[in-house]
Amino acid sequence: MNTMSPSISAEADMQSKGAAVPVPEHKRKDTLMEDKPEDTVIEEGKTVGKPFTDNPKFKLRNVDVSYGADRAIKNISLDIGRNEVIAFIGPSGCGKSTFLRCLNRMNDSIEICRVKGSFELDGQNIYESKRDVVELRARVGMVFQKPNPFPKSIYDNVAYGPRIHGLANRKSELDDIVENSLRKAGLWNEAKDRLDAMATGMSGGQQQRLCIARAIAVSPEVILMDEPCSALDPIATARVEELIAEMSESYTIVIVTHSMQQAARVSNRTAYFHMGHLVEVNKTDTVFTSPQHPLTESYITGRFG
Ligand SMILES: Nc1ncnc2c1ncn2[C@@H]1O[C@H](COP(=O)(O)OP(=O)(O)OP(=O)(O)O)[C@@H](O)[C@H]1O
Ligand SMILES: [Mg+2]
Repeated sequence: MNTMSPSISAEADMQSKGAAVPVPEHKRKDTLMEDKPEDTVIEEGKTVGKPFTDNPKFKLRNVDVSYGADRAIKNISLDIGRNEVIAFIGPSGCGKSTFLRCLNRMNDSIEICRVKGSFELDGQNIYESKRDVVELRARVGMVFQKPNPFPKSIYDNVAYGPRIHGLANRKSELDDIVENSLRKAGLWNEAKDRLDAMATGMSGGQQQRLCIARAIAVSPEVILMDEPCSALDPIATARVEELIAEMSESYTIVIVTHSMQQAARVSNRTAYFHMGHLVEVNKTDTVFTSPQHPLTESYITGRFG
C-alpha cells in the first residue's frame, strides 16, 4: 500500500522524471542563503541585535585592528556587561582572538599590530600611556587554548602572580591563596598531595584547570578564555564548563569557542563575528533560536564556517 501523501508522491514523481521541483515556500529562504552566504553585504560598523548594555564592565567603541596593511577588526563597538559570560563565535580567521587580545593589551607585543578605538574598563581608558600593563593583566586575566603551565611546581604556578604583585606578606597567606585558587578551579583534591610536583606532569584537563587557578590567584575582575576546551576531552570540558558557571558569579568572562553547544551552555550573551565585522550580538537563546542576520543564521545552522 502506498502510504505517501498525495503531495509528496507528486513531488517524488516529478523528481523521478527529472522535472524541476518547485521549492516550497518555507524552504525558499534557506536555499537562497545556502547558495551564497558569503555574498551577503555587511555594512561596516553596523551590528544587529543588542551590542550595548547598561553599566558595562568594558565599553569598546570603533575598534579597528590591522596587521600591517591587513585590517583584521573593522570598526566594532560592543559593551561587555558586569558578571556576564559572553561568547565570541564565528568562522576561523574572523578576528575573535584579535579582538579578545585587545582587552588586556596582548596585541601590544605583536610588532605589526595596530590597534585603534576607545577601550574603557570601568570607565577608564586601558590604552592611556601611563597605564601599567602588568596591573591591567592582573585585572583582566587570560586562559589560552593550549594549557601553558610554567615548568615549575603546581604550587609555584599558582603562587607566581601573587608573588609578582606582592599579594601575600607571609608564607601562610600565600599558602591560603594557592589553596583557595586551586579549590575555585576544582583542582584542590587532585593537587593537594602533590603541590611540589611539576605542573607539566599533570593531565591536559588538570593543566587547564591549573591555568585557570593561576589566572584567578591574582583576583582578576575579567577572565578572557580563548578556546579553553579545544584540547580537552568531553569530561575535562564538562569540568571547565562547570567552573565557568561557578566563576560567573564573581567574574566577567569572555569565551571564544568553536562549539556552538558550548556557547549555548555557558554564555548569557553571544557575539557573532564575520570577516572582521561584529555582525550580531544578543542574548544567547535569541542568537541560537531566532538569529536576525542571515550570516548568523547560516553559521549556526552549519552552512559555512
Ligand atoms: N600575529 C599575526 N600577524 C599577522 N596577521 C595575524 C596575526 N594574528 C592574526 N592575524 C590575522 O588576523 C585575522 C584574524 O585572526 P584571528 O586569529 O583573530 O582569528 P580567529 O577568529 O581567532 O580565528 P580562529 O578561529 O582560527 O582562531 C586573520 O586574517 C589572521 O591571519
Ligand atoms: Mg582564534
